[in-house]
Amino acid sequence: MRFKKASGRVELAEGTRNPAFRDADGDEPAAEHSAGREDHSARTEDPSAGREDGVAAVVEPEAAVAVVGDEYSQVRPYAGMPKEVLLRYSSQARYRVPREILFWLTVCCTLALVAVTVTVVAVSPRCLSWWQASPVYQVYPRSFKDSDGDGIGDLKGIVEKLDHFLYLNIKSVWISPFYRSPMRDFGYDVEDFRDIDPIFGTMADFENLLAEMHQRGLKLIMDFIPNHTSDRHRWFNLSRTRDPHYEDYYVWADCNSTSPKPNNWVRTVSVFGNSSWTYDEVRGQCYLHQFLKEQPDLNFRNPDVRQEIIDLIRFWLDKGVDGFRMDAVKHILEAEHLRDEPQVYPDRPPESVTTEWDLHHDYTYTQLGLHDLLREFRAEMDAYSREPGRYRYRGPRGRVAMWPAGVPNGRKLGVRNIMVCVWLGRFMVTESYDYHEVEKTMMYYGTRLIKESDFPFNFYLLDLPHNKSGAWAKHLVDLWMANMPLGKWPNWVVGNHDRSRIASSAGPTYVRAINMMLLTLPGTPTTYYGEEIGMENINVTESQIQDPAGKYNASASRDPERSPMQWNDDMNAGFNNKTNVTWLPVHPDYESVNVEVQKADGGSVLSQYRSLSSLRQTALPFLRGWFCYVHADANVFSYVRELDGHRAAYLILLNFGTQSAATDLSSVQELPDQLEVVAATNPVRDGNTVQKSSILTEAGEGLVMQYSTYTRFHPKHPAECFVSEKACLLETIGILYKC
Ligand code: NOJ
Ligand code: MG
Repeated sequence: MRFKKASGRVELAEGTRNPAFRDADGDEPAAEHSAGREDHSARTEDPSAGREDGVAAVVEPEAAVAVVGDEYSQVRPYAGMPKEVLLRYSSQARYRVPREILFWLTVCCTLALVAVTVTVVAVSPRCLSWWQASPVYQVYPRSFKDSDGDGIGDLKGIVEKLDHFLYLNIKSVWISPFYRSPMRDFGYDVEDFRDIDPIFGTMADFENLLAEMHQRGLKLIMDFIPNHTSDRHRWFNLSRTRDPHYEDYYVWADCNSTSPKPNNWVRTVSVFGNSSWTYDEVRGQCYLHQFLKEQPDLNFRNPDVRQEIIDLIRFWLDKGVDGFRMDAVKHILEAEHLRDEPQVYPDRPPESVTTEWDLHHDYTYTQLGLHDLLREFRAEMDAYSREPGRYRYRGPRGRVAMWPAGVPNGRKLGVRNIMVCVWLGRFMVTESYDYHEVEKTMMYYGTRLIKESDFPFNFYLLDLPHNKSGAWAKHLVDLWMANMPLGKWPNWVVGNHDRSRIASSAGPTYVRAINMMLLTLPGTPTTYYGEEIGMENINVTESQIQDPAGKYNASASRDPERSPMQWNDDMNAGFNNKTNVTWLPVHPDYESVNVEVQKADGGSVLSQYRSLSSLRQTALPFLRGWFCYVHADANVFSYVRELDGHRAAYLILLNFGTQSAATDLSSVQELPDQLEVVAATNPVRDGNTVQKSSILTEAGEGLVMQYSTYTRFHPKHPAECFVSEKACLLETIGILYKC
């Protein structure tokens, strides 16, 4: 091929202007190209002349280029074409227009993508945290599983039973203390916060437990006891010997063995005795202890003590724990003036003050500065969590992996689970019994801007047995819901290692309905080990008493609710099988009330617990939806769970009374006439259809009924309804948005 130039216009030589771009002699284009390059290299004006591969930058007049206007109408560019020519080609409409179209398409797509991303982020409700997505299960380690046959549960025992949590759809496990301890208060008297008590195992056992838990997507919540240590703690020994650094680590006041105590303060749990002061012979002063005399209170007015606690929090965060249950927080600070607290009955003689109930605890409970302290701990946890790489953990074989977050145990991540996506962060729950001062409890939530605990434990449902009725159940639920600050997350507790088991205090008849309520209310349920199978208190004879509180006052013993977990009908209920010893007796009902037997029975308390916890996790209205009271009377408590845009809604009806009831909800227009039972405490009712005009329940019976409608209850009854964060579902594409 040749180019020739004429009148400043470039045109292909004759014979080359065909679409196939062949040379006159019919050579293939590739051959032409190389021929063209040879020609160019021969030209003297060509700046690349003389170069071996010299591609001409300037086209010579004699080059065989036919110029016809500015258009190369029939020619396609080819590799090796001179730049100028190529540029001229590219300005041809047939190249320029598609190119511009492509360019603007790319720009538009990018902008659209950015806009969609920003919109999705802006309209999406907050992710749920792991502690919201799953119930919390409390393990009392002495009683859960004994791996070595010494009669006391241990960390290896917990590892053996991790699958139990997966079976229950539980992800968050709180383990009561296993620090090194003289066990005067079974671990709530800590001798060394950085060590594991040999009864429970070693630090390696702990690390293994944590790794095994994380491997399974389980989170570990440590019990943390900031208020006091054991009197065997190194700090206390240094304090009583007046080591300059530790001298003020505890609360000391002048007194002597014979003179009166520094003031009238009494121990908080009156069952532990009366005065909260004990004379220490070594130091010659009295020290404060709001619990046992073997549990001296730390002095949080001392900044070094605060720093010690922060260091300990970091120590366990470094190990990889996921959260803390903060023990006895209202006791952390005391008034410095040490004045007597006012008597509840001022006319009585001072000697009559012997229990917690005899004083107004103006100077020992919930002192000014307490929340600042807790917020400081919290801020430390959050700051730690924000440090790079903090969400990673090291698996047992040194494998580094990300948390498998937000995925219900054993399931793959799917659209639905993304909607229940889980926010990773550390968790803090506080323990404070404020009885009738609900606003004091709510303070632990912190404010909108300053985080404190994710929730303070809600103990109100422990009162359910005192008045078995639907109205009372509603009252207790409403105590929390009506007082909880806007946007906070509720939680529910029906038992722990300090309180009688609910199956005993309410009676076994009510166990299923209580679990049903726990798992269908909004917020996080806490399950004390054994509640999932309806375990009851044991009877402990005086000689069997282990609890120091019980030794002081048998009726106050907490041993009954701490008996060994009932795993099967083997020796010692499978708690251990190597010896006949268990630290507390096993409940005699273990042959029928145990995990193994109940697993095999689809209608058992355990099976029901499992299917309800699965429903809670998979049906969005339970995790994300509105909670509305529908009805409460002497027997029945009823509420709905619904989510805007979600067709399926749920009516829950629980009979906490002592009689059977026929509940008429026909006046509730938002409910359809017929509802389908999807979970029932009495398994024969599963799958039944009920008429809303007459829903029959026996005492202790509960029903979860599903119905299908887009008509919602909450818009017409705002005073009866709560939601922590509004969310609506775009059901067609399965996306949640703020609404
Ligand atoms: C609350 C714990 O739950 C209880 O068991 C313990 O005795 C006291 N705090 C003292 O730590
Ligand atoms: Mg053991």
